[in-house]
Amino acid sequence: MAQTFETLMKYPAADEALVKKALETAIGIVRSDLSVFTDHFPSSNSFQGFYEATENVEWTTGFWTGVLWLAYEHTDEEVFRQAATVQVDSFFHRIADKIDVNHHDMGFLFSLSCVAAYKLTGNEKAKEAALMAADHLAGRYREKGKFLQAWGSVGEASEYRLIIDCLLNLPLLYWASEVTGDKKYARMAENHIKTAVNCILREDDSTYHTYFIDMETGEPSYGVTHQGNRNDSAWARGQAWGIYGIALSYHYLRDDSYIRLFERVTDFFLCHLPEDLIPYWDFDFDTGSAEPRDSSAAAIAVCGMLEMAKYLDRERAEKYTGAAKRMLYALIRTCGNADPKQSNGLLLHGTYARDSAENTCKNRGVDECNTWGDYFYMEALTRSIADWEMYW
Ligand code: GLY
Repeated sequence: MAQTFETLMKYPAADEALVKKALETAIGIVRSDLSVFTDHFPSSNSFQGFYEATENVEWTTGFWTGVLWLAYEHTDEEVFRQAATVQVDSFFHRIADKIDVNHHDMGFLFSLSCVAAYKLTGNEKAKEAALMAADHLAGRYREKGKFLQAWGSVGEASEYRLIIDCLLNLPLLYWASEVTGDKKYARMAENHIKTAVNCILREDDSTYHTYFIDMETGEPSYGVTHQGNRNDSAWARGQAWGIYGIALSYHYLRDDSYIRLFERVTDFFLCHLPEDLIPYWDFDFDTGSAEPRDSSAAAIAVCGMLEMAKYLDRERAEKYTGAAKRMLYALIRTCGNADPKQSNGLLLHGTYARDSAENTCKNRGVDECNTWGDYFYMEALTRSIADWEMYW
């Protein structure tokens, strides 16, 4: 079903009472998870509703620490601050000892754990860890093409590409420039987003997931998907990374050309939502499809719209806030976990990866919780009722 802003406005919007109740429920589940997930982290996705305990590996552990910081901000309870601080130590060791960091996801890992710790508690060790992570990410910047290489060894020909997800790693670089006074980090971030939007945004306002850059000339070469259904389709989470990533760069750069880009990627996302407003994992699928949903894409998009609305004129701010609150209502009602016996996660019905003829993925975390879905759900709830100072 093609949505328009008019059809979207007919859906119920999340009001303060509903959001507060959802937050209370979520924080209750987080509290009960603490005994397992303080010295360990939840796995990237749940298995039949339940996260397993892992070490501090993969790109996803920072989301849980971010959830703990949000719970601390809402409750002022020491138990959350203490658990998050234990995890900050783990992140310090992870970056100091370079454990599973041969990729670009330093922002996902360190903004929500260590930058948050520094902003909220002035933790100097957290600041040091986050700056080490920013330096590490800066090491992936490729002057030839002006982008941050996502995966693989730096400069490796078969991995000379950027991915849309990386837009969420840029705030770590903007923040590093702010705290050190060294503009090189922000310059890399700004160059990266310019290169990225230049090649991943298609004429119809959908986005490529990944884009190869010619190593010799530095020119954009060709786009392929990694987690989407087809090379030419719009992977729902990728489109959501685009929405929030552009809003975050706007926050730091205040370059008004990003307003139009934001509208383009966001309007595509909103206009392709199915009847119940929870996107399928790829926008190839619509109302009535048996394919799984990706609730995390909706939560990410809500955060992006609420962030960008702060900078838009009144009419546009109301439009995107209105859409965000309707999606949030749908998320709370259809994906918010209210029963710790069915899951130890917060947001049901996410999809980490789904295999298809054109992608290279195996099914993983299909119709499960995932840690980023939980984090962005908590952040979306928080943003919808408070003027929240972000960790990004
Ligand atoms: N950044 C990886 C993902 O969204 O699955």
